[in-house]
Amino acid sequence: MDGYNILKMQKKLKKYMDEMRFWHTLGVMYTAASLAMRYGEDIEKAQVAGLLHDCAKCIPNEKKLKLCRQNHIPVSETEQNAPFLLHARLGAYIAAKKYDITDPEILSAIEFHTTGRPQMTLLEKIIFTADYIEPMRNKAAGLDAIRRMAFEDIDCAVYTILKDTLTFLEKEKTCLDNQTVIAYNYYKKLMEKTEV
Ligand SMILES: [Fe+2]
Ligand SMILES: [Fe+2]
Repeated sequence: MDGYNILKMQKKLKKYMDEMRFWHTLGVMYTAASLAMRYGEDIEKAQVAGLLHDCAKCIPNEKKLKLCRQNHIPVSETEQNAPFLLHARLGAYIAAKKYDITDPEILSAIEFHTTGRPQMTLLEKIIFTADYIEPMRNKAAGLDAIRRMAFEDIDCAVYTILKDTLTFLEKEKTCLDNQTVIAYNYYKKLMEKTEV
């Protein structure tokens, strides 16, 4: 695609989101752009991925499952029981189908924004981190430190976010996607290696 019409995408997206989700989305878009400036990622790609990362979030859960079934999008047992987890993979599908995104880097940054994964690309790390630290976020512990860390060492920020997310989900006894554990184990090892 030759340049993205970000304003047009924003207007369309707004129709499918509640106000808070839309504000969160803009926060992720601007934070992702800032991290892209810091780490030398393509700023426009970071904005588009940030803007669209939650494009499937406001679809009712039953409809999420139906859309996945209809479009042959795999659904794990955990996701079947907790369909909100599907918004990332379904979001990548909707970004491609409804917003004409063809760039595989943008689509995978949307797909892995919730769970992360081992060996994330820079754009994936940027969206994963921006989703956690954008200015509207205020509940997670240690946010100030993670916000600073995000601009100093993004791998360390990704590791800390994964660690804190697992601690939070275990405490809340909320549905945990095994992908998060796999990503955490990878970044834990990476951090141990860099300490040596
Ligand atoms: Fe999300
Ligand atoms: Fe989000």
